[in-house]
Amino acid sequence: MRRRSRIRGLIATGILLLSPSWSFSDSPDPAAIERGRQALTSTGYLKPAWSEAAYGRAGALWGQNAPAAELSAEAYAAAFNQRYGMHSAPFPNGGLPMGLRRAGESGGGKSGVQIDCMVCHGGSIGGTSYVGLGNSTLDLRALLYDLTQADNRRLPPSLFHLNTARGTMNAGMISVVLLSMRNSDLSMRKFPLALGANLPELDVPPWWHLGRKATMYYDGRTDARSVRSIMQFFLAEKSLEELKELEPTFRDIHAYMKSLKPPKYPFTVDEVKAERGKTVFSKNCVKCHGTYGPDGQYPNRIVELAVIGTDPARAHGLSDRLVAHYNTTWFAEEYPADLEKIGYQAPPLDGIWATAPYLHNGSVPTLAALLKSADRPARFKRPPSTGFEHYDQVGVGWKFDVITDPPSPSLPPHEAQFIYDTSRFGLGNGGHRFGDVLSDDERADLIEFLKTL
Ligand code: HEC
Ligand code: HEC
Repeated sequence: MRRRSRIRGLIATGILLLSPSWSFSDSPDPAAIERGRQALTSTGYLKPAWSEAAYGRAGALWGQNAPAAELSAEAYAAAFNQRYGMHSAPFPNGGLPMGLRRAGESGGGKSGVQIDCMVCHGGSIGGTSYVGLGNSTLDLRALLYDLTQADNRRLPPSLFHLNTARGTMNAGMISVVLLSMRNSDLSMRKFPLALGANLPELDVPPWWHLGRKATMYYDGRTDARSVRSIMQFFLAEKSLEELKELEPTFRDIHAYMKSLKPPKYPFTVDEVKAERGKTVFSKNCVKCHGTYGPDGQYPNRIVELAVIGTDPARAHGLSDRLVAHYNTTWFAEEYPADLEKIGYQAPPLDGIWATAPYLHNGSVPTLAALLKSADRPARFKRPPSTGFEHYDQVGVGWKFDVITDPPSPSLPPHEAQFIYDTSRFGLGNGGHRFGDVLSDDERADLIEFLKTL
């Protein structure tokens, strides 16, 4: 186990507070946060990928009676969101779900529809949408393929699994493929570099942790101050010059992301149990996950694979060649990625009640199952929506049906995507067995405490 640059820890011990110039540079700038919020929620940065009409035509591909988009925009939007696991936008978005946006309207370009960060980083819980909550229901593959087919085009078969289950996305491989098409100076290549990375699909981390982290991504190999690294998807079309022009905007967006806070647990908490649970947490969990409240300290620990024991595919999947290539580019000039593979970063647990399923691959549906490894299901059905009727207030997370038999190959893909199968690449549910030593009562107290974070 190792500690990384402990900037937050130093603030707490007051050392850096002695330096006024330092505290000035770290204090959040409300104007930048507001510019970032605007920039993220009102502007598309990619050219349109689909025609405006594709959104309304996708319903014809569902093999069921979809409400006609032209008869009731609202009913169609609800059915569209249900079908693809998307959520209504908590900001003005022209009737489109969060994650899709109209692009190219100004500047005379061809107008149409594009995805943005919130297709993965916009989620909902109990019917309320949040920017920055990971989208735990998205079927990204179906969304991209259906919109393309609705435009009478076909996507080439993907070289990797975008997602085999709802709510997990292979964002890493999208970046790898884009980066492999660029030279170190980011000029386009005719043939991709063979970088040898093989990453799995992942659960999406909430943005509200970013403000506490010194390093980010699940393996903690990137400095959390890196603005450029969160711009990698723009390699889909942008030149180095265009990326440089966008960087100040993404600096503001980064400030906005760091300002986000999790929603509070909406049901009652048994304070007596929670207080007992805090003691269990202090004994068993604080050394990796830190403390909470106004004086909370986050240790930013990256835990070796041999200790954490969770699915190794993500930690192993980033090849040395890929990291070395990334580090020769503009993206890494300020903050190169760490060459060393360690394991997984113990994340902050703020708002943990709202971010089920758990672990970096979303392989465990509830906190109860995370903290008692024998209860983790090998194959389970993910909920049809994030409505509270599917929420388990005792186990904390999503109610689930255990699926005993392997899904029949004749199951339509739309149905099959609801099944999370831990035997697939990268989706193992082992490891993190730190709760196994607790008694059932201690575990229940601990879960009560976790609701308060
Ligand atoms: C296809 C889904 C997808 C899209 C689109 C996407 N992300 Fe992510 N994002 C992820 C996943 C998955 C991770 C976890 C990656 C990992 O650690 O390997 C992640 C990680 C992050 C993190 C690190 C969070 C942390 O605490 O470690 C940031 C910051 C981030 N994304 C910002 C963005 C921004 C900004 C955009 C838009 C330009 C964006 N993402 C678009 C899926 C996506
Ligand atoms: C040795 C360090 C260590 C200890 C001790 C530890 N954890 Fe963790 N925890 C981690 C790491 C690392 C991860 C991320 C693993 C992954 O995603 O593969 C994690 C993940 C989690 C998650 C899932 C987070 C998410 O967003 O999906 C929860 C919840 C959690 N831990 C709670 C606890 C509790 C409660 C305890 C005490 C019983 C505890 N942990 C003890 C290191 C630790």
